[in-house]
Amino acid sequence: MTALHAPPAAPEVLARCTALVRPALREAVDRLHPWTAEMAAYSFGWCEVGGTPTTTPGGKGVRQALAVLGARAAGADARTAIPAAVAVELVHTFSLLHDDIMDGDATRRRRPAVWKAYGTGPAVLAGDALFALAVETLATVPQGARAVRLLSTALTDLVRGQADDLLFTGRPHTGPDRVTTEEYRAMAEAKTGALLGCACALGAALGGADEDTTNALDRVGRHLGIAFQLVDDVLGIWGDPTVTGKPAGGDLREGKKTYPVLAALTSPAARALPDLLNSPERTQEAAALIEAAGGRTAALTEARTHTATARTLLTRTPLATPAVEDLLTVLDYLVGRDL
Ligand code: IPE
Ligand code: MG
Ligand code: MG
Repeated sequence: MTALHAPPAAPEVLARCTALVRPALREAVDRLHPWTAEMAAYSFGWCEVGGTPTTTPGGKGVRQALAVLGARAAGADARTAIPAAVAVELVHTFSLLHDDIMDGDATRRRRPAVWKAYGTGPAVLAGDALFALAVETLATVPQGARAVRLLSTALTDLVRGQADDLLFTGRPHTGPDRVTTEEYRAMAEAKTGALLGCACALGAALGGADEDTTNALDRVGRHLGIAFQLVDDVLGIWGDPTVTGKPAGGDLREGKKTYPVLAALTSPAARALPDLLNSPERTQEAAALIEAAGGRTAALTEARTHTATARTLLTRTPLATPAVEDLLTVLDYLVGRDL
């Protein structure tokens, strides 16, 4: 039987949402001090260093799309989600500016990271400016108090997750103090899932959704975020830098306790892995051993478990069907990306 209509492709869904949000996002960034505004515009791919306009591909716009789809899922007009979409995209960009400094990553989206292009101090400041702008964007909407509450919960979680991500690098690979996969899950949910959950919930909240609906959408986003982080971990080890826009092997060199590493360490086949992980010049050998010990497969299997949970939650919650279809499309796309 032929389907009456083909479901929209994920890039099309994302493009539709980002086109709706872009004017308000630009207008918000334009309100910043010109220097921080330029660094923000550079990270969004709108300009080069110095301010010359350009159209470098920016991010995928996942968080802003989730906000828009959250509002539609709650039965509201997509436009009601615009302030939510702007706020989560600003917070995401703020977190990336600071994350690249914390991780010492010099490249983002195939270009020098903001701290490399402008300096560390200016990049910290630009991050702060984006953070403040996000709060201001939400504080001025009619349901401002509820919206700011949702955003601050996500921010608290994000910072907590980043703290654990950094602290885990100092923990041993083996023995009683090693990082467990349960600790990883909590860290990934906090550093990545909280903002994705917030994006869905905030969109729905601005669309007038009740607590049960916003809570369910928050959980959908959190599971999607964990899956997203697991895939990001896999891409961080085996991804093509020309596609990911980030250098290969960075997480291994930085001693990140990513899921493929933690899963491989539980296998007897990976006895030599701790030594390889302690030798930053041997990341290729480490990557091969992690794969042979099943770390890559384990991470992808775990990612699929979380998307399956997100899918179940989405289908069990009373939501508007077309938006749910779009959310499912985005979900599958994010977990299948470039693998
Ligand atoms: C980023 O985590 C999470 C936040 C920015 C809050 P990662 O450090 O794992 O992500 P990438 O690989 O740099 O994008
Ligand atoms: Mg990073
Ligand atoms: Mg990081």
